[in-house]
This record gives sequence, structure tokens and C-alpha cells, in this order.
Amino acid sequence: MQTKVSLQSELAGIHFDNLMMNAAGVRCSSVVDLNKIMVSSAGGAITKSATIEPREGNESPRMQGLPLGSINSMGLPNHGFDYYLDYVMKQQEAGNNNIIMSIAGTSIDENIEMLHRLQASDFDGLVELNLSCPNVKGKPQVGYDFDAVDQVLTEAFSFYNKRLGIKLPPYFDLTQFDQIAAVLNKFPLAYVNSINSIGNGLVIDPETEAVIIKPKGGFGGIGGEYVKPTALANVRAFRLRLNPEIGIIGTGGIKSGMDVFEHVLCGADLVQIGTAFGPEGPAIFERISRELEEIMDQKGYKSLDEFRGKLKTL
Ligand code: DHB
Repeated sequence: MQTKVSLQSELAGIHFDNLMMNAAGVRCSSVVDLNKIMVSSAGGAITKSATIEPREGNESPRMQGLPLGSINSMGLPNHGFDYYLDYVMKQQEAGNNNIIMSIAGTSIDENIEMLHRLQASDFDGLVELNLSCPNVKGKPQVGYDFDAVDQVLTEAFSFYNKRLGIKLPPYFDLTQFDQIAAVLNKFPLAYVNSINSIGNGLVIDPETEAVIIKPKGGFGGIGGEYVKPTALANVRAFRLRLNPEIGIIGTGGIKSGMDVFEHVLCGADLVQIGTAFGPEGPAIFERISRELEEIMDQKGYKSLDEFRGKLKTL
């Protein structure tokens, strides 16, 4: 039997044929990798977070797969702002609006400078300001400093008038959700993307009695199955608190159609796949689409809207 379910979605007025895409950082640093996502079943793509200048990132080994996920301390290796702006502009010129440009300056000033350049550019699509990179030595995750989030968004929206989303670190206390949501609701954000990796976990090889990645004494961001309950909690907590005009991208622990289903139940408009996309590659979007279609078909859902945000409580 042919399934007639739709995985279409919308974010900030932009239509996506499929709600899935890569998570920033994984297999999206080069034009070659980005093009592979664009021709896959994914509904779009997001670029590796850019800094103004190209960066080599941290020393290797800086990423390791784990039984239930991954640890990384990449340190923002990227080709620099101009490289990614050039790519998203070419996509836009080709009529593709499903490309998100991610930026992650290592200071508020660097982020503001990149936003000025984007404002001055002809790029009209989605931009994601990453306030949650845990891996740049000596730099705190802005997302954990609510005053700093307020400050950077106040400055950004004083001149930036295009669609801007933000990527946030995971929060763990309900009062944190209340406080950060109160800040975010002051701004015309296009969307919130939750979660970035759980920062500064430590994975040890008991055989060698050593850490398994080199930067920062082995501390790194945790992704994959380990983080799914935290990701679902963040998507749910934000959907319950954010203005309805602010969309949500759910990221964290997705490796099956059921994981996507759960993210959407919590309120995700789109979802991103990081850790599981690494080893499996672009074919993952087709596999998970099929799995999700089957789940929806069995449950009698024809569209994501029928169950988005409708998580039941006991
Ligand atoms: C890196 C990791 C992140 O989680 C992020 O949001 C940005 C950059 C990195 O180490 O490259």
C-alpha cells in the first residue's frame, strides 16, 4: 500500500518538503558535503557554523563515536564567513530557500559583525545564531548567561530585520526555562533550535585509563541517544513557554522515525540530525522518512500538524 502521509512543514514562512535536515557541524563544512544533503531526501540543509575568518579548529583526535552517541571537541573548524555566504547566496539564486546559514562568532562583537554583513547582503533566508558552542577554549557558552543572550539579541535586532533563529544549549532546571524564555519572548525570533550537544562531558577508555579525545583534557560535547530525553524536554519546555510566532527546530538524539515523531509531539516544526548523520550519511534522511511515514500511516495521521505539540500528560 502506498502511504499518502506528508512530511511537509513550515518554518518562519518558509516551506519545507521534508521536516528533516542535518544538524550544524556534521558533514556540512564543504560545498561538496552540503550539495550531498541538498540532493538527498532532507528538506534542507544548514551550514557549519561560521566565524569571520577560516579556522583549523582543535587538535585531533577531536571526535569519537560511542555506543550510544558521540563526543566531540571540534573547536569550530570552518572555511570562514564568506565561503558559506557565497554558498547560501548561490542556493537562493537557484530558487532554494531551504538553506540555513549558521554563524558562531567567538565573541558578541564577532557575531554582531557577521549579522551586519548579512544585513547588508542580498541573502534573505534563515540565519541561525549559534549561542551554544561548548568547544572553544576559554570561551563560555553564551546561552548559559541570560544577560549576555539579552544583550546580543538587543544589539542584533536593533539593526537586523531579516529572519533570525538561535541555537541554544540544553537547559536542565525549570526555572532556567522560565528565565530564558522570558528573554527570548522579547524578540521577533524566527525560531529556537534546541539542543546543542550537552557540553563538557567526559568519556574514558578504562583499558588505557585515558580520555578519548585530545582537546581540553578530554572534555567534549555529548550527542546521540544519550541526549534524547534532554532534547525532548527542551523542545517541550520551550513550546510551552515561547510566543507561538517563534518556531522550534528539535535537535538531539534522532536516529529513527520514532525519534522524529517524539520531537514533533513535543512541538518541533523541523528536526535536525547530527550524531547519527555522521556514520550513515545522507541516506539517513530517506530511511527515517520511510520509518516516520509508516508510523504516521499506522496511527492514521496524514500530516505533522495533526500531532505536533499534542503530547499528552498523565
Ligand atoms: C562546535 C561545536 C558545537 O556544538 C557548536 O555548536 C559549534 C561548534 C565545534 O566544536 O566546532
